[in-house]
Amino acid sequence: MASQNIYILAIESSCDDTAAAILKNDTLLSNIVATQEVHQKYGGVVPELASRAHQQNIVPVIHQAIAEANIDKKDISAIAFTKGPGLMGSLLVGTSFAKSLALGLNIPLIEVNHMQAHILAHFIKEQNFKTPEFPFLALTISGGHTQIVKVTSHFEMEVIGQTIDDAVGEAYDKSAKIMGLPYPGGPLIDKYAQLGDPKSYKFTKPKVGGLDFSFSGLKTAILYFIQKQVKENPNFIEENRNDICASIQYTIVNILMDKLKKAVKETGINQIAIGGGVSANSGIRKALNEAEGKYGWKTYVPKFEYTTDNAAMIGIVGYYKYLAKDFTDLSVTAQPRYKI
Ligand code: KG4
Ligand code: ZN
Repeated sequence: MASQNIYILAIESSCDDTAAAILKNDTLLSNIVATQEVHQKYGGVVPELASRAHQQNIVPVIHQAIAEANIDKKDISAIAFTKGPGLMGSLLVGTSFAKSLALGLNIPLIEVNHMQAHILAHFIKEQNFKTPEFPFLALTISGGHTQIVKVTSHFEMEVIGQTIDDAVGEAYDKSAKIMGLPYPGGPLIDKYAQLGDPKSYKFTKPKVGGLDFSFSGLKTAILYFIQKQVKENPNFIEENRNDICASIQYTIVNILMDKLKKAVKETGINQIAIGGGVSANSGIRKALNEAEGKYGWKTYVPKFEYTTDNAAMIGIVGYYKYLAKDFTDLSVTAQPRYKI
């Protein structure tokens, strides 16, 4: 009998990372990410440059993923790709490539929602990592999204809270920009925050109803605060960088934790998984870890390489959809505002 193993080639190109991965069932064989450096000097992602860089990267990235997995193209069972949400021009590169390759290899095509993938990344088989049990709450925090999702099964997901303006990653990146730090500034704020005093400066938390978030007011508050301080002391940022970063991080982590506490209370679910670029953040990781002892929650933090955009997470959704025979036809197209 032929082997029952399923090999998924996954492609992710929703924003500024061109990524490809190969999974053998729920195990990762290779995971390649080409991060686009071109945006750094603009202080943010330039959509036109992103799609051009995807076009340059996509073939070598896929070749490398197949080579590192040590398989042959003809072993691939199906191709999974990110249909959305994301930038139209970026998504189109991955979508068109996935469609052509599926047609060329005569194998099924599987569309994947990027946000669902950030959540299901927890199901990639890894030693020393536990898998959440249903139902659980997922806090997806990235440069484009901030959501609390009630996850009932691999495919039943309900958004119960989200940002009404900026995403938490944007709050990090914009605060970093105000401080003159390069893009993406989130990881840098995190780095300096660990060296500073979180209680140095106080920023008011936004008042938003229910389980929704808002970060644009905080960004403005940080801007005005820094402008005022710099007027009095031009070296204010350099002299207090660690304390400013620690205070920003403290405020943001508190905002996230407050809403999670509310969500746990409202749903009665105390299993929490985080995902998305900001889940790499040391502050939120520490707060969740402490919540296990403090509130009796069970928390799940993804392996570092599955936090920022990657194709492994697209591949695991592909694997579950393959098992469910949930395939898509060649008329499929990218959907920048694809909802969970
Ligand atoms: O998930 P992701 O790679 O892309 C989107 O789908 O948006 O998330 C990127 C975001 C950026 O805003 C980046 O600054 C932020 O994740 N980020 C962090 C950290 N690492 C990445 N923010 C805070 N602390 C970090 N350690
Ligand atoms: Zn993402």
